[in-house]
Amino acid sequence: MPKVLEQTLKGDRKSRIPVWFMRQAGRYLPEYRKIRQKYDHFLDFCFSPRSACEVTLQPLKRFDLDAAILFSDILVIPYALGQTVSFIKDKGPLLKNFNEIQLKYNPSKLSPVFEAIHLIKDQLPKNKSLIGFCGAPWTIATYMIEGQGSKTYQKTKSFAYLHAQEFSALLELLAQVSADYLIRQIEAGVDVVKIFDSWAGAVPAECFDEWVIQPTRIIVNEVKKIYPYIPIMGFPKGVGLFYQDYLKTGVDAITLDPSVPRLWALENLSQHVVLQGGLDPIVVLTRGKYLDQQIDTLLNTFTTVPYIFNLGHGFVPETPIENVEYIIHRIRSFEKSCEQLLSCSI
Ligand code: CP3
Repeated sequence: MPKVLEQTLKGDRKSRIPVWFMRQAGRYLPEYRKIRQKYDHFLDFCFSPRSACEVTLQPLKRFDLDAAILFSDILVIPYALGQTVSFIKDKGPLLKNFNEIQLKYNPSKLSPVFEAIHLIKDQLPKNKSLIGFCGAPWTIATYMIEGQGSKTYQKTKSFAYLHAQEFSALLELLAQVSADYLIRQIEAGVDVVKIFDSWAGAVPAECFDEWVIQPTRIIVNEVKKIYPYIPIMGFPKGVGLFYQDYLKTGVDAITLDPSVPRLWALENLSQHVVLQGGLDPIVVLTRGKYLDQQIDTLLNTFTTVPYIFNLGHGFVPETPIENVEYIIHRIRSFEKSCEQLLSCSI
């Protein structure tokens, strides 16, 4: 059965615009919160194959989406490398003692993820795609070194500047391990993979090649060596003009953050990669002119090129479910009006 997300990722512009959302399974859904409360520790939840499968499929039961994204987290990689990872309620991730760990990769710690993928694939409708993912080396390194989220990335950058060789070895290790992790996800059944570089916008221009492009390119090359036809999506959030440089990573698709000018992306990126995303997740909290404007600009700018509808970052927990339904409805109505226009002009 044709899967519109994968067809679009291969460069085909279809009349149906594929839609999925970052954090489509999450706290804004009551059915997610219900399962979430069974677990004290977020990683126990991620590593329970049956719960992970169930929440992965939840948004597809509610909404007319074209893909599921594996329910897990990018921080399972530091965990598989031997670092203690926990998630503190209302505060976010906490990682312990970067200086004291040996950094030894144990992929068997990730086996519940692959088990979850098997379960999901058994139940996922055949016309929908399953997206697997990992964090990019820079973003993972920031969590490992800071021990938590950060505004300044002071520890990570100081380490990188003062111990350049060690930092570059860390990025290389993370790239190899992440490639292995994606390859195992594909073996288990994911159809597409995505590399999240959520904090790439904090990298200084002079370091962009070394900290972002090169490590990401290692992941892309390693995965493509074994699975040349599996589409790879990249998300270099917040990098401005460096979105164009990011093309050098060899990814097949790029997610736009909300600040990327749509026409600039059309003119400078769309000839080389499939474009995805862009909608401000915060405008989704509202209804009215701004939400409509942002949806319509994306749809109208990318009418002639392969485009995947998505946000420019993940849904926040306060997102009203009706607004998600509304966005999808607006996209499907746009498709219908395009079809009518086409049939009138014949
Ligand atoms: O639906 C999906 O998008 C799939 C699942 C997914 C999660 N995290 C679930 C999650 C994915 C793809 C991620 C990736 C992820 N995790 C990123 C990259 C994308 C991005 O958002 O920038 C990053 C930076 C992380 C690290 C992370 N995980 C943080 C900072 C937090 C705490 C902040 C928050 O949103 O709560 C998490 C926890 C997390 N990961 C939650 C979910 C649904 C919320 C935890 C909970 O339910 O208690």
